[in-house]
Amino acid sequence: MPRIIFATGNTGKMKEIREILKDLPYEVVSMKEAGVTAEIVEDGTTFEENALIKARTIAELTGEIAMADDSGLEVDYLDKAPGVYSARFLGEDTSYEVKNRYLLEKLAGVEGAERSARFVCAIACVWPDGKSKVCRAVIEGELAKEPAGENGFGYDPIFYVPEYQKTTAELSLAEKNEISHRAKALREMKKEFLA
Ligand code: IMP
Repeated sequence: MPRIIFATGNTGKMKEIREILKDLPYEVVSMKEAGVTAEIVEDGTTFEENALIKARTIAELTGEIAMADDSGLEVDYLDKAPGVYSARFLGEDTSYEVKNRYLLEKLAGVEGAERSARFVCAIACVWPDGKSKVCRAVIEGELAKEPAGENGFGYDPIFYVPEYQKTTAELSLAEKNEISHRAKALREMKKEFLA
């Protein structure tokens, strides 16, 4: 079976990605599983640019099909921060418990529609012949008042989805994969492989 190398070291993302792409006639492997190590400098200014930088680096290094995700949380009240800096926000090694508390404190006293936020995801794919495609999707929501839920990763405990009256950390993997930014972008990308 041909394979797709997914350029991420994030096990939370990899779990979601594997589930969504499981019906493709491709083996989806992480960089670690493919034995690929690369220091990738994500110096793009948009999710799309960063996803493409990651996918292109791995495709050129391996000569195989490479996919990458760049994603993050935009909080409208904070001028869309942390945005493309979501992983590096307050320092790469700072726990999400601390990052999440910090964001909730920043929005203390802010009510209703002013708490609006979204997760954004760009998925890039680069083929061995240099061809590339990028798909972008979002899920709209708001910052929760308190962290809740144990599932998912990163900012999931503070991202509240009004439709479900739950944070994305309170959704099961299957539920999150129906509505998330990453799931929507990946399903769009999947069409490219099924065409
Ligand atoms: P990236 O690896 O540079 O794309 O970093 C994306 C960061 O955005 C992650 O480390 C998380 O902090 C955050 N993020 C992206 N997608 C999600 C999600 O589905 N749930 C929670 N946090 C997310």
